[in-house]
Amino acid sequence: MSKNATSFICQTCGFASAKWLGRCPDCGNWNSFTEEKAGAVSAKSRSGPASKPVRLSEVHTEDAPRILTANAEFDRVLGGGLVPGSLVLLGGEPGIGKSTLLLQIAQALQARGRRVLYVSGEESAQQIKMRAERLGSEDAGEIFVLAESSLEAILGAVTGIRPTDLIVDSIQTTFSEALESAPGSISQVRHVAACFLNLAKTDQVPVFLIGHVTKDGSIAGPKALEHIVDTVLYFEGERHHNHRIVRAVKNRFGAANEIGVFEMTGRGLLPVQSPSDLFLKEREEAAPGSAVACALEGTRPILVEVQALVLSSQYGTARRTATGLDYNRISLLVAMMEKRMGIPMTGCDIYVNAAGGLQIDEPASDLALFAAILSSFRNRALPPSTVLIGELGLSGEVRPVSQAHVRVREAAAMGFRRCILPAGNIPLHDPVESIELIPLRTILELSEAIFGGTVAGA
Ligand code: TYD
Ligand code: MG
Repeated sequence: MSKNATSFICQTCGFASAKWLGRCPDCGNWNSFTEEKAGAVSAKSRSGPASKPVRLSEVHTEDAPRILTANAEFDRVLGGGLVPGSLVLLGGEPGIGKSTLLLQIAQALQARGRRVLYVSGEESAQQIKMRAERLGSEDAGEIFVLAESSLEAILGAVTGIRPTDLIVDSIQTTFSEALESAPGSISQVRHVAACFLNLAKTDQVPVFLIGHVTKDGSIAGPKALEHIVDTVLYFEGERHHNHRIVRAVKNRFGAANEIGVFEMTGRGLLPVQSPSDLFLKEREEAAPGSAVACALEGTRPILVEVQALVLSSQYGTARRTATGLDYNRISLLVAMMEKRMGIPMTGCDIYVNAAGGLQIDEPASDLALFAAILSSFRNRALPPSTVLIGELGLSGEVRPVSQAHVRVREAAAMGFRRCILPAGNIPLHDPVESIELIPLRTILELSEAIFGGTVAGA
């Protein structure tokens, strides 16, 4: 390709085409092609100094301990602290708290004697100062701020200041003068990320990149970025709640799906000690349509209330909506309810919701969801102090879940007295006292277990 050749690049997945296309043949997105000049960056500028192969047995790991940020929840999502030389992407909607969280991390790191450079292409140094004052931690003078969006200028500043940690707010506003495409375009985002990766790996400086998400919840140019970086963290949930969930979607140095739970306060994001407490806080025990599930998020079990509202449909077609839960899963459970239990759901509107803005996509919450829908349909509350765990198979069998003992222990620790769980999980790997276990083999036994009655009909 000649140096000035242009090509059309899909801004979602990076697919390149010689001519403009309305729909990307790769990812199927409409109207995502933008013209970009190709070839301005030589392959050489991307790679670091040539490295030699070494024996795996001779590679030492002990000289690179993790850096603890002293923020328990953040350390947890990172997989137990920050790894030197790692590249971390933090994504989330505007206003959810990305800049706040990373400024707090900058403060925590400098309190540990580190030297942090916070680069912002979005805010002025004064604005960052105002936020830092609001967060109110002591600044020993080792946080440097730079309001800059040129990649070359940022790399220049890094050479001058020699920070131990670098924060870039945001990847979309940072652009390289070596490329002609606009800031935020996929080739810019990719190039900028590759340069920071190089910096992270050669100087062993952890680099945090803030990324904005588009309306459909993905970081602009996500596919291109997610495989470059070591760790991808997303802010989940809604801005309207006071708490925020940060999830590790990908982590080369820890468990994926690990979550950190924070509360947004007047002094920044504070770690939440007991997430189960938080997600059950507003629960009303005797309300029909409410059930408690225990989801395993990364390595941590979290109790969460799932709610369902079932009512007969006013219009021809039944409405079904799911917030925080998988819509397809609901359809499947409802179909099963009709077929296996003979409950007529066709004419019902069904709304389900995971309380507190948590996103649950684990099949182990099937049983709780099923019970919530059934409970709302019958307008009968579930027995108090009961947790439901279990995955449902298509023929109505209740399938064992992973780490059942961890979930049961969390339920017992949170004061629940009864746990309905798959028979296949009993005996528990590690027995838990002080909680009654009710095993189920098939979904037909559920009604008996929760209502004490028979299964038949509505
Ligand atoms: P911000 O970090 O600017 O969001 P992002 O970088 O993701 O766009 O945070 C935005 C919100 O957080 C803003 O609406 C104000 C609120 N906030 C607090 O409630 N308490 C605080 O201590 C701070 C700094 C911000
Ligand atoms: Mg911001």
